[in-house]
Amino acid sequence: MALTLEPLAPFGARIVDPDVDYLLESPDAPDEVMRALEQNCVLLFRGLHLDDATQLAFAQRLGEIVVKHTPGWSAEFPGIYRVALDPSANDELYVKGSWDWHIDGATMLGAPAKASLLSCRVPPGSGGETEFVDTYAAYERLSREEKERVGRLKVWHKVRADAYSTPIHLAPGMRERLEQEPAQLHPLVWTHRDGRRSLVLGVTTASVEGLEPAAGRTLLDELLAHATQPSAVLSHTWQVDDVVMWDNRGTMHRARPYADDSGRDMHRITLVGDEPIQ
Ligand SMILES: [Fe+2]
Repeated sequence: MALTLEPLAPFGARIVDPDVDYLLESPDAPDEVMRALEQNCVLLFRGLHLDDATQLAFAQRLGEIVVKHTPGWSAEFPGIYRVALDPSANDELYVKGSWDWHIDGATMLGAPAKASLLSCRVPPGSGGETEFVDTYAAYERLSREEKERVGRLKVWHKVRADAYSTPIHLAPGMRERLEQEPAQLHPLVWTHRDGRRSLVLGVTTASVEGLEPAAGRTLLDELLAHATQPSAVLSHTWQVDDVVMWDNRGTMHRARPYADDSGRDMHRITLVGDEPIQ
């Protein structure tokens, strides 16, 4: 059997009746999934029901997975990262910091993550949707003049705790630590190996190289508003056992706010990126 896809709006695709055995065992499944992901940017597997072991087994078929030992990362299942507002699971900074539009790994040295798989273990009672925009499409919607202008610009990216739309309690010394992290300089337009181009934006954008700070901020804010206009946003309302994959190279995402005590618990696996922003 092959995967059956049904389009989501305004982009993305739902895998119809996903079969966990097929995904874990078929020799064809990994290529099919990755091809579908490249073509659709976001894939929804409704009610797939993965636990940590099967989520890891599925992800390992798709590529090399990221393993870290910092807040949020599981010791028992290396590679599983918990997104939950539970102090024993993760640090509030990293959870609420994802409530603004971002590309995973935009502030890290080297290639950002290739893709992520997010599995819903406990859905929030209300709020907590995850939203996506297609940053290839956002680039394509620019006029020819705008493409030429932004195609020449480079942007400094860093963790900007003060830029988050939700106030975040920072642990003592954290602000100073963040300020010392080196910023990364990325082109505003990412030219991918397959020739496609996408916009590199989000809450990590600090300044535009060669522009006055105010002019750079205005341009970045205008481009973000353009990329995230409501008609371009794919919003996913979580149900228990949903799994959503996104191609981190051609999308931005954010979670919508939810209550501190909502119990929302998501388990994520990230695939190692092999394509630097260039
Ligand atoms: Fe994220």
